Order: sequence, then structure tokens, then C-alpha cells
Amino acid sequence: MKLFRTKNIDAMIAASGVSQLKKALGPVDLILMGIGAIIGTGIFVLTGTGALTAGPALTLSFVLAAIACGLSALAYAEFASAIPVSGSIYTYSYATLGELVAWIIGWDLLLEYGLAASAVSVGWSGYLQSLLHGFHIDLPTVLTAAPGAVPGKYTLINLPAFAIMMAITALVSVGVAGFARLNNVLVAIKVGIVLLFIVVGVGYVKPANWTPFMPFGFNGVFNAAALVFFAFIGFDAVSSAAEEVRNPKRDLPIGIIGSLAVCTLLYVAVSAIMTGIVPFAQFAGVDHPVSLALQYAGQNWVAGFVDLGAILGMTTVILVMTYGQTRVIFAMSRDGLLPSGLSKVHPRFKTPWLTTWLVGFVFAILAALVPLNVLAELINIGTLAAFSLVSISVIVLRKTRPDLHRAFRCPGVPVLPLVAVAFCVFLMCHLGAVTWTAFGIWLLIGLAIYFVYSRKHSALA
Ligand code: ALA
Repeated sequence: MKLFRTKNIDAMIAASGVSQLKKALGPVDLILMGIGAIIGTGIFVLTGTGALTAGPALTLSFVLAAIACGLSALAYAEFASAIPVSGSIYTYSYATLGELVAWIIGWDLLLEYGLAASAVSVGWSGYLQSLLHGFHIDLPTVLTAAPGAVPGKYTLINLPAFAIMMAITALVSVGVAGFARLNNVLVAIKVGIVLLFIVVGVGYVKPANWTPFMPFGFNGVFNAAALVFFAFIGFDAVSSAAEEVRNPKRDLPIGIIGSLAVCTLLYVAVSAIMTGIVPFAQFAGVDHPVSLALQYAGQNWVAGFVDLGAILGMTTVILVMTYGQTRVIFAMSRDGLLPSGLSKVHPRFKTPWLTTWLVGFVFAILAALVPLNVLAELINIGTLAAFSLVSISVIVLRKTRPDLHRAFRCPGVPVLPLVAVAFCVFLMCHLGAVTWTAFGIWLLIGLAIYFVYSRKHSALA
């Protein structure tokens, strides 16, 4: 039964000093926060591969992925409002499903956040190259992509992706407190260029490019949905702000669902316009599809602005993911599940310095050597698995702690969370065998570490 020992929720809430935080955030703040964390490589880069997989019906893939996320988000919102302490679903599951499941989720999150930072770095690199190309500067091909990332071309290492990942690591290692205001500006730029693309691009759409709409049938749509699901990852950032929201009961679900809804609208519009301007087959091997569509339309200047905006916008996503990952490691180490050295705080910078550099380097190497699609699929399978566990946890918590105050209650329990699980598992089934294998290996390594180390060193023990 030790495997299922749980943390005491009331003690956790009391220890976190939740009530001391200033409650200043309203629904609009939350929606903006969500959008800031969500928009990135998914829309700027993966839409190219998505279009190759689904054709113009990529729009449907986005809607499907949004539904899976939206349903899971309701469960997230209930947890965030009931257990408003940091650590996201790792913390939530530790309090409900017990230590083993919490370990699996935490181990899973480590991979997700880390790989997401790597994946967005790869997207960043694609847009940097597109921007430089506009100034007639071309880096040697062999240094601009992971081996096998560009069909028919010899590539060795994605050096720009490695460089940005290390630069962000350096930033996170000395603390990001001063970054918040700049981050808001970058988010505004990011949304601005998406709108710019929509406004400029819509005039160049040739509806003939939309037929056939579904060249690869429903299977293509589902496969693309499993890939572009990546574009929605990040909305949980909203739930982590639970303790600082003025009226969480009303505002948390508005923030989570609202940011997802806005992003879905933007994504559907962008993918419809992209595939309306460029015949989808031409996205093969392209890592900057949004600006490519504008170049195709002859709008080279606007394409340049989109390149620049995408670079700035994706930088914030890399930062949020890297930061999130170090926080998960910090929480797991503090709980004794990982060695205590990993939660050691630097005396001057007050950051988990060693951890930050360690994982920053590892994921920079992965950004340099692994193609984006492989990274994205791995992130998706882990995230979908974690989302499923969150939905199940909501049902469990209603049974084990019916008395717990929930500022927001997920509607339709247990039916809606079960539908969410079904959606997530359905998308997981549309990911490749290699992805499943890699995920399985990661979980096995995690379980081995748990049984050899964490179970004995757990603070709960
Ligand atoms: N949703 C984030 C992105 O697309 C991870 O970059």
C-alpha cells in the first residue's frame, strides 16, 4: 500500500501559504497568460507537417485536438481550484492517486517540458534561418538541422536550436523575475503577427487549393490531430496561477477555456489560409510554413515580420517550458523522490542552478540532434497520458474527498472526464510505433528509478 500513500491536501495547502498571495488576476489576465504559453511551434511550424498529413482538412484536426484539450482542461480547472499549490498535476496526483502515480506523472512531465523546450527551439531555428535568408545569409545546411530531418539533404546538427536552448538555460539559471514585463510584450507581438498573417493572407486564398478537402480521409485528419495537439500544450500555465485569481470559481474556467477557444479560432483561421494560399504538398520539408505562405503570395516584407515575430514569440515558450521543468524537478526532489542535490538553491541567484544547467544541456543536445516531428510526437503521447490521469484523478477525488472545497467543479463527473480520457487515448492511438516504444522505455526507466531509489527516499516514508 506504500505505493499509494498520498500527501495530506489540507497540510499542503496550509504549508504553501496560499492565502498570503495577492489575488490580483481577472479573466482577461488569465486568457492572455494562457495564450502566451500556448502559441508557438505548433502553429508556426507543425502546421506544415499537419497539412501534409491531413491536407486542407487540417482545420478539422485542430478542432479535434482542441476538444481533447478542452475536456481535459475542465478537470484541470477543478484541481487547480481545489488544490491551489504549485507543481501542477504532479502535486494534484500526489494528493489523490498516491505516490506511484504521482511519480509517473512527474517523470512524464519532466520529459514533456524538457522536450517541449527542445521542440520549440527547433521551430525557433527554422524561423531564424528564414529571417536570415531574407538578408541573403544562409548557414551551412549541415549545421541547421538534425540528422534525417530534411529528406534528401545531409544534415548533422541543428546548431541554432542548440544555441537558443543554452541561452535560455543561462537566463533561467540566474532567475527570470525581471522577464515578466518583457514577456507580456513578446506575447502581444506573437498574437499580433498571427493576426497580421490572417489579415494579409486571406486576400491571397485560392479556394481551389481546398479541394480535395480531405485527401487522406479521416485517418489523415486523426493522425494530424495527434500531431498538432502539440499546439495546445501550455494552457495548464493558467491553472498554476490559481492562488492569485480574484474569483477562481468563475475566472479559472473562463481563463482556461477562453484561451483554448481563442487559440482554436486563430489556429483554424491560420491553417485554412495557409492551405488556401499554398497547395499543401509544397509544405514538404518546410520548417517555416507560415512565412512561406506569405512569400508564396509575394508578400516578402510581411513574411520577414512574421519570421521576426515568430522568433520572439517562440522564445517565450522555450522559457516557460524550461522554467516549468526545473520547477517539477525541484518539487520532486524536495519530496525526496529525486536526489536532494537537485533542489539545491544557488545562494546568490536563488534558483535551482545546477538542475537548470544539467537539464538545459541535455535538452539542448536533443534539440540539436532529433527532428521536430519525433520530438513533438513524444511530447504529445506523454501529455495525453498525463491528461488522462488528471481526468481520472478528478473522479477519484470526488469519491475520496467529497468534502474538499472546490471553487470550480468540473461539470458532468464522471461522464465528461471519461469522455476526455477516451479522446486522449484515441489521439494516442494515432501516434507512431516508434513514439510508443520510446515512451514505454522512458516509463520503464522511471519505474526502475522509483523502485530502486525514490520509494526509500520519499519524504513521506
Ligand atoms: N503549444 C506550444 C507550442 O506550440 C508548446 O509551441
